[in-house]
Amino acid sequence: MSLTANWSYPTNIRFGAGRISEIAEACVTTGMKRPLLVTDRGLASMDITTSTLDLMDQAGLGRAMFAEVDPNPNDINLAAGVAAYKAGNHDGVVAFGGGSGLDLGKVIAFQAGQNRPVWDFEDIGDWWTRADADAIAPVIAVPTTAGTGSEVGRAGVLTNAESHVKKIIFHPKMLPAIVICDPELTVGMPPVITVGTGLDAFIHCLEAYSSPFYHPMSQGIALEGMRLVKENLPKVFADPNDIDARSHMMSAAAMGATAFQKGLGGMHALAHPIGAKYNTHHGMTNAVVMPAVLKFNRPAIEERIAAAAAYMGIAGGFDGFFDYVMKTRTELGVPDKLAALGVGTDRIDELAALAVDDPSAGGNPIELTVEAAKALLEECI
Ligand SMILES: NC(=O)c1ccc[n+]([C@@H]2O[C@H](COP(=O)([O-])OP(=O)(O)OC[C@H]3O[C@@H](n4cnc5c(N)ncnc54)[C@H](O)[C@@H]3O)[C@@H](O)[C@H]2O)c1
Ligand SMILES: [Fe+2]
Repeated sequence: MSLTANWSYPTNIRFGAGRISEIAEACVTTGMKRPLLVTDRGLASMDITTSTLDLMDQAGLGRAMFAEVDPNPNDINLAAGVAAYKAGNHDGVVAFGGGSGLDLGKVIAFQAGQNRPVWDFEDIGDWWTRADADAIAPVIAVPTTAGTGSEVGRAGVLTNAESHVKKIIFHPKMLPAIVICDPELTVGMPPVITVGTGLDAFIHCLEAYSSPFYHPMSQGIALEGMRLVKENLPKVFADPNDIDARSHMMSAAAMGATAFQKGLGGMHALAHPIGAKYNTHHGMTNAVVMPAVLKFNRPAIEERIAAAAAYMGIAGGFDGFFDYVMKTRTELGVPDKLAALGVGTDRIDELAALAVDDPSAGGNPIELTVEAAKALLEECI
């Protein structure tokens, strides 16, 4: 079976190996004549990026690129990106990269036409209605990692460079108009990024699946997303060039972000402040805290996780699922403790307070109190 398809769920997705070849036509379809490709510093000089710019250039769309994007991108990156967007008189963004490049590209396309500070559009209540929706530029998203699913998301994660707090900037029109999911773009990821992003996708599904809200559509997507990661992450770890397995990981990533419209939970609530303060890799941070949070949530999700385990072909109910998580982490080289990522015990109070305030905390099946967050951090560090 060919792993190629066109999907309109939750947006237009052109899925399949080699489909980056459609980038110029996608720009034309969305009405872009002068697109700005936004990516991160690391990707800027890689072949997958320069050959994408070549394709745009050959079609008369130019090869403008903005790459002053840090991992865990911040408002300084945003201001520089908006300035580049305006200076180049651009009319749309090709957001190209992992979550960092995708998120910043989306937020540049959003913010370039707004008159209020970006923090006014944090994902709180109906704050998004403050935005001038007509001024939001179109985005084509091209993921080069398989994890965040930002390509199908309506938000961008932005770190405040001054306070080192991660905020979610949300607007329904931030959803990319077209997504090109080309698994061949992901084969060059360093193994640690393959693992970190792959487990981020798994954890999006796991937390969405575990959150208490009523959303059966997300529930189904999350379940199959977890199964896809279980089957395919070990394959891409063993053989980075396994395109079928890379394809399934790319699907799982998009599924995770679709599913987490139902909610996230304590893993992300802890990982966000840690990432913002210590600049750790987002997915890897989630992967380290996953078992402790899973155990903490056990009383509320035991049956549900047993059902997931059965679907995924794991024997032994919740315990079997927990053992699977521990074994997978070890096999994929995930550190057992956050100390290995450079996190110290000296800021636990601060991290715990931020975790409880993080919007993801609201989806945790058991209330995440400051005391609970402190205890979890102590265990994880
Ligand atoms: N918008 C969302 O819904 C959402 C969800 C989860 C995470 N995030 C955010 O996404 C960010 C993390 O994204 P990420 O995990 O994809 O990592 P990333 O985008 O920060 O990339 C990690 C590293 O991998 C490199 N890289 C990316 N693709 C590559 C490729 N194909 N070949 C070689 N190197 C490659 C990058 O240059 C970078 O150095 C965080 O800021 C996180 O907060 C957003
Ligand atoms: Fe995530």
